[in-house]
Amino acid sequence: MTLPTMEAFGRTLPFLVVLLPSLFLSASSLSDVEAASITRRQLLTFHNSGDLPADFEFEFKVDFKFKNPRLRRAYIALQAWKQAIHSDPYNFTGNWVGYDVCSYNGVFCSPALDDPSLQVVSGVDLNGADIAGYIPAELGLLTDAALIHLNSNSLPALHYLDLRFNEFEGALPWELFDKDLDALFLNDNRFDSSIPENLGNSTVSVIVLANNKLGGCVPSSVGKMAATLNELIFLNNGLSGCLPLEIGSLANVSVLDLGSNSFTGVLPRSFVGLKSVQQLGLAHNVLTGVMPEEICRLPQLTNLTFSDNYFKGEATVCLTLATEHDVVFDDKSNCLADRPGQRDSKTCAKVVNQPVDCGKSKCASSPNSPPTPEKHSPPRVKPSAQPPPVHVNSPPPPPPVNSPPAPSPLVHSPPPATPG
Ligand SMILES: *[C@@H]1O[C@H](CO)[C@@H](O)[C@H](O)[C@H]1NC(C)=O
Ligand SMILES: *[C@@H]1O[C@H](CO)[C@@H](O)[C@H](O)[C@H]1NC(C)=O
Ligand SMILES: *[C@@H]1O[C@H](CO)[C@@H](O)[C@H](O)[C@H]1NC(C)=O
Ligand SMILES: *[C@@H]1O[C@H](CO)[C@@H](O)[C@H](O)[C@H]1NC(C)=O
Repeated sequence: MTLPTMEAFGRTLPFLVVLLPSLFLSASSLSDVEAASITRRQLLTFHNSGDLPADFEFEFKVDFKFKNPRLRRAYIALQAWKQAIHSDPYNFTGNWVGYDVCSYNGVFCSPALDDPSLQVVSGVDLNGADIAGYIPAELGLLTDAALIHLNSNSLPALHYLDLRFNEFEGALPWELFDKDLDALFLNDNRFDSSIPENLGNSTVSVIVLANNKLGGCVPSSVGKMAATLNELIFLNNGLSGCLPLEIGSLANVSVLDLGSNSFTGVLPRSFVGLKSVQQLGLAHNVLTGVMPEEICRLPQLTNLTFSDNYFKGEATVCLTLATEHDVVFDDKSNCLADRPGQRDSKTCAKVVNQPVDCGKSKCASSPNSPPTPEKHSPPRVKPSAQPPPVHVNSPPPPPPVNSPPAPSPLVHSPPPATPG
């Protein structure tokens, strides 16, 4: 029974407040008490692991006839989502009306993988719609198409969720990491929870969480994605604590960007396991210690950026990266004696003299940590020196040589929403 975790989930995901109000009440305005009671009722209907109960969809009265039950489920999911959206400046979801979900903006249909005679919702792409709102539990009803997949002749089936450049807020739904997706683009929203503990369940090749307000530690389960993960981008959030050793297991990751957070402590030696890493971004954190030789010798390195930290030393070989190996190398604004552009000694002393014991840190890796999704109390500690906002570009970073192609917005995105 995982009700407590769902409660934690529900507390910080007040989407339930806007959940199909017509189901319970005729009018739109809910008092806090009513909202809380609806929330409780909804929570009681959640089953193990937070899945929606099998008959959940039949609680909804829907007047339309659908070509198949999967489209009916999709309709419920999309309508719930529409209800959970409180700002849609381009009226992107304006035509999310009626039974023909396949004609909705940003919604894609194609034959079901398991039954080509059925047309199902295979993709939802809200990239750039600038939508603000919550992600409702009903999104789980978009399951049979594995939430997202797109087929074309030249690409393998892709399963991805692309919510970039919107204003989704609240907790990052942990369900996303238990879904069968190939890529998760959630950057440039306003998610403000911690990263769910089940992060490592994800089978995606790309996770981009950049430019949100996420806080807390990186779950140690991160290492479980070693076989599939190619890109991991946590850039510009409020993540803190020591980096888990398990990141070093990500031997297939080519882009790892942890920049502009509040990570502390020394870089784990295990990072030497990042055998495929090309771009290693650590800038704008509170990292200390020495940049070790093994990391500067990582075979695929093309860009090692750790400016704006508190490193007090670096292996000599690191200094040859830029000059002899054509690697982008940035060690500015650290505490490195004899290097140009460093912090002043007083600023350095404050941090360097108070070393963080990562063995005792609350983020210390604990292999037996319970599988419970996080409580979403957002710590949201930002570094005192606020780094400039960093933009993760859309399109997503170019796929590394051996990764499946990342979804290209040019191919899959809906036509740009026209204001008004
Ligand atoms: C949004 O779009 C729908 C359908 O396209 C239209 O009926 C509605 O008037 C639009 N709303 C606004 C505020 O423009
Ligand atoms: C990296 O990917 C390859 C396949 O592309 C796989 O065989 C290998 O096991 C992966 N590495 C790890 C550490 O899982
Ligand atoms: C190197 O990496 C840093 C941080 O990840 C990034 O900001 C920068 O643009 C990269 N430089 C190049 C030339 O790719
Ligand atoms: C997700 O991970 C947790 C441990 O973090 C595990 O207990 C749970 O069963 C996993 N879920 C799936 C669907 O694998």
